[in-house]
Amino acid sequence: MIEPSTQSAPVRSLPRWSLRNPLFTPAGRRLSLGLGLIGIGKPWGHSDDTVPSEKQVRELLETAFTLGIRYLDTAPSYGVSEQRLSEFLSTLTPAKRASLTLATKFGEHWNPDRQEPFVEHSYDILARSLDGSVKRLGHIDLLQLHKTTPEVLRSRDVERAFLYARSLGISNLGASVSDLDSAELALSLHGVSVLQFPLNPASQQFVETARRATESGILVVTNRPFGMGGLLYAEPPLTHQAAFEFLIRQPFDGVVLTGTKSIRHLHENWAAFNAV
Ligand SMILES: NC(=O)c1ccc[n+]([C@@H]2O[C@H](COP(=O)([O-])OP(=O)(O)OC[C@H]3O[C@@H](n4cnc5c(N)ncnc54)[C@H](OP(=O)(O)O)[C@@H]3O)[C@@H](O)[C@H]2O)c1
Repeated sequence: MIEPSTQSAPVRSLPRWSLRNPLFTPAGRRLSLGLGLIGIGKPWGHSDDTVPSEKQVRELLETAFTLGIRYLDTAPSYGVSEQRLSEFLSTLTPAKRASLTLATKFGEHWNPDRQEPFVEHSYDILARSLDGSVKRLGHIDLLQLHKTTPEVLRSRDVERAFLYARSLGISNLGASVSDLDSAELALSLHGVSVLQFPLNPASQQFVETARRATESGILVVTNRPFGMGGLLYAEPPLTHQAAFEFLIRQPFDGVVLTGTKSIRHLHENWAAFNAV
């Protein structure tokens, strides 16, 4: 299903689901602001890692929807993130639910007793993890291999797990990467339609990957726009606007994930993203 391409990858057009409410950049790129849901499920972030209450999470997700955010990124290893997203989804009409693009991952898992994540990529645990995500979220639009390495991406277990995902109706498969070798391998595989990686002014190693992914019709999803929040407090600090200006200048079509769990910050980030 996902196998090495023998020739250069064919140019595929972006699937219609991928970019709802896109912003058209001066360079003619299409970008959407998506919401990353790590902080609603487990302690996360630079300045305040408190996990918000269920009521705060509900209000955050309602605010995101009202603003026009339609791309949500979660993972089973983000503590109770999928569960909380599931509770929010149950409040939506079928039409509103269908307007969302939901992305999750498998490969990193959550140990509720130890309250910490662990990584395992055997077929059985990947399939069980995916069953849990489907049970919580219903239809999943994109599934990314989490904690990718080249060895894992090439493994028979992952190949079987992707086939299983396809059999469940998940047609958009890909990887979340943090090293260039994994990114390179993912770009060379047929069947990869989404690639996630960090991108911000202090972490630019994936700029070329982003360009090549877009040329191949692969949806680019960037995380850590503020370096987990740390760049906003660096000396000199990065402003929200400068972070988004940097991303909007980059040569890709895709989704920029903001990782806030605060309604006030979400408003600030939405305004800053749309201002540039
Ligand atoms: N695949 C992976 O391996 C991977 C790795 C990392 C992240 N991700 C995904 O990418 C998403 C985004 O990454 P990230 O969380 O690192 O993003 P980020 O936006 O770089 O950092 C989030 C941190 O910045 C703070 N922040 C956000 N907006 C702010 C504002 N306007 N003013 C002050 N502080 C602000 C947040 O605090 P508040 O919550 O208090 O606003 C939080 O501490 C994650 O949620 C997750 O979905 C994936």
